[in-house]
Amino acid sequence: MERVLREGAFTGQTHVVTGAGQGIGRSVAGALAAHGASVALVDLDEGRLKEVQAEIAGTGAPEPVVAAANVTDEDAVKAAVATTLEATGQINGVVNVAGVTRDARIAKKSYEDFKLVLAVHLHGTFLFTREVAAQHWHPLFKENGNQPLDDGVNRFILNFSSVSARNGNIGQIDYTAAKGAIEAATRTTAREFSSYRARVNAIAPGPVNTPMLAEVGEAGIRAMGAATLVGRIAEPEDISNFICALADRRTSGYVTGQVFQVNGGMYLA
Ligand SMILES: NC(=O)c1ccc[n+]([C@@H]2O[C@H](COP(=O)([O-])OP(=O)(O)OC[C@H]3O[C@@H](n4cnc5c(N)ncnc54)[C@H](O)[C@@H]3O)[C@@H](O)[C@H]2O)c1
Repeated sequence: MERVLREGAFTGQTHVVTGAGQGIGRSVAGALAAHGASVALVDLDEGRLKEVQAEIAGTGAPEPVVAAANVTDEDAVKAAVATTLEATGQINGVVNVAGVTRDARIAKKSYEDFKLVLAVHLHGTFLFTREVAAQHWHPLFKENGNQPLDDGVNRFILNFSSVSARNGNIGQIDYTAAKGAIEAATRTTAREFSSYRARVNAIAPGPVNTPMLAEVGEAGIRAMGAATLVGRIAEPEDISNFICALADRRTSGYVTGQVFQVNGGMYLA
């Protein structure tokens, strides 16, 4: 993976990436590792994560930690965070990428699918955010006499919204509701985690060329590309490069509580 920041920008840091088995999460994990981060890979399928681990280690980046977990399973999330802390001694940042879609118009949407989509996006984001605070950053804050952690250590949470949170999308009442809630949760988390001097932001991509778009088809992808000002849909690297900038204190040390539209100008707000 090509570097977009200086060499070793994240050396000595540990970043947790959910949804790291494919698509954007896999690209994010590779990009952070290419800048020296030890990455903890979270996804449902441990076998797939071992492939990603080997792929990243094969580039000469630090060997990632495999921490398979269903992000909706509270105990599994606790264990994934604990495993990461055991392996690397610290967590500097979490990128909450894992997601699913179950598109259907409201009249035909099953309650099971509605709950599943909310659970993966919103509950999963909450659980990882809580666990890194509960197991790691809050104890540091207490050790520091309940004073803000002005220790110069990079800490961040990066959440995933979507352009459809603001623009709406037919068939996605669950997905758009989850993404809107994630944007609101990002602002509250930023306020609370200011005590840890953690920066908390979200990005809202437009369409990205990943398996999530598999059902859209070539004509649909061309049409979506034509609806942008850049003239194409995003590749995963368009997103992971921006994530690197947000994860880095030098580029984004004064940025928190924000939602960034990374949509090629498809929606302007
Ligand atoms: N692709 C797009 O067009 C697009 C646009 C805007 C936002 N996003 C957001 O970007 C993120 C990544 O999307 P993508 O396109 O890479 O999707 P993807 O389907 O390619 O990958 C999602 C990954 O999340 C994992 N996952 C799903 N449920 C999980 C669970 N319960 N526990 C752990 N892992 C789970 C999947 O196994 C998969 O590896 C999602 O939050 C998505 O909503 C995507």
